[in-house]
Amino acid sequence: MIERRPMIAGNWKMYTDIFESVNLVKAVSAGLRGDEEVDVLVAPPFTNLSVAKPFAENARILLAAQNMHWEESGAFTGEISGPMLRAAGCTHVILGHSERRHIFRETDEDVNRKAQAAARSGLIPIVCIGETLEEREAGKTFAVIERQLAGSLSAFLVGGDLPAGTILAYEPVWAIGTGRTATPAQAQDVHQAIRSWLTERFGGAVSGRTRVLYGGSVKPDNITDLMSEPDIDGVLVGGASLKAESFLGIVHYRK
Ligand code: PGA
Repeated sequence: MIERRPMIAGNWKMYTDIFESVNLVKAVSAGLRGDEEVDVLVAPPFTNLSVAKPFAENARILLAAQNMHWEESGAFTGEISGPMLRAAGCTHVILGHSERRHIFRETDEDVNRKAQAAARSGLIPIVCIGETLEEREAGKTFAVIERQLAGSLSAFLVGGDLPAGTILAYEPVWAIGTGRTATPAQAQDVHQAIRSWLTERFGGAVSGRTRVLYGGSVKPDNITDLMSEPDIDGVLVGGASLKAESFLGIVHYRK
């Protein structure tokens, strides 16, 4: 069986200025012991990335952006490109987060273009998918997840391979910022479906190596149960990643 190294990722959303970002990276770094058997990643706002980079790098904390544009440069006022993120020190980029999809009307096709552009720029995409409460209650969870996967990864389906390292994040919309976590069994059901979909479309090797993170109200007190599920390979944490103590409590879930 292929070993998928767990990833604990913090999505800082539109929180923290430059100083707060640096302090938070420093506080997380101070709490790391160096023997963690997980990848630790944080995604501060764009303005804070390059300043946070050296502090993150020293502690082997990976740096991600929360979004990007699909073109490399051009007249796109207010947008940031993949090469710019690479130059700022990012290795990863979160794409298609539910807040991007719902507040900013991003579509699967947008996410698909961004994922291709990320790969071209040498950034590892963390592609987010997840159903709303309405969709879950209507019994449409798996249909929605499959539609989002097929749409957001359509360019890679054509080639039959996912760029190395690509990460997926299952984040049920009803669990984000609500305090209402999916139960480990509910999350595992969807993660297993995602894994089967990957096997069907890309084959066992890609499916076996692709990490699928869970996100939605992850806290130090529910991480252990979530991580004990076979297809949950890590977590994408919002609220609880903004305090070093709770984020470290999640990073150190193995005690
Ligand atoms: P939450 O956010 O942990 O605050 O629910 C998760 C996310 O939006 O990635």
